[in-house]
Amino acid sequence: MFQQLVTQYRARLKALKLDTSRLRSPPPRLVFVTSNRDKVIEAKRILQACGVQFKHLSLRYPEIQDSSLRKIALTSAISVYRRLRQPLFTEDSGLFIEALGGFPGPYSSYVQETIGNIGILRLMEGVRNRSSRFESVVAYVESPRKNQVFTGSVEGRISIEERGSRWGFDPIFIPSGTDLTFAEMGPEAKQKLSHRAIALGKFASWLIEHGRKR
Ligand code: IMP
Repeated sequence: MFQQLVTQYRARLKALKLDTSRLRSPPPRLVFVTSNRDKVIEAKRILQACGVQFKHLSLRYPEIQDSSLRKIALTSAISVYRRLRQPLFTEDSGLFIEALGGFPGPYSSYVQETIGNIGILRLMEGVRNRSSRFESVVAYVESPRKNQVFTGSVEGRISIEERGSRWGFDPIFIPSGTDLTFAEMGPEAKQKLSHRAIALGKFASWLIEHGRKR
């Protein structure tokens, strides 16, 4: 709606032969705080497709240790909000492997940085039950007392070897219903299935429903 008004306004100025090159939409107020570039690329695709605009702020923030991704994401978002004082969201995700009792789960980022995919594949050597699940939690803080959490998950299995070359666990995670790892599929195919797309899709619907797209 707003974009439509800007376009109409530009067209009117053009008709009057005025310079419209400096006319810009105001920058979005909503901020995605993360130091993970791959998450930003995926979030852009997903949210922009729903007409939701955001600014990216690359910031590392401390994460509490807890077994609940929901608690980790919300605590981080609230602590970052106290610094920035503007509507923002963070996203926390993890890979839960059934045969390993849900490991690495909330420790996914540490495990990825230390033993990596090769280490996970070693832990899974000879293990027949390869079921696993990716989870994503988006935590949105709008004001000191207003926050919301949106979750998404995708079931799948751990591959026998790394296949494809995208980020994180993408080369070893095969979502249910396919034989390809996330890394072997194009970004559009991943977007149709991913834990992050589900959580961000719910977030976008909420923003649209509550008139807070920017
Ligand atoms: P965090 O959400 O930043 O705490 O990190 C979770 C870790 O899980 C990341 O470092 C990634 O390595 C991994 N991860 C989360 N989501 C994905 C994904 O969609 N593809 C690949 N790896 C992921």
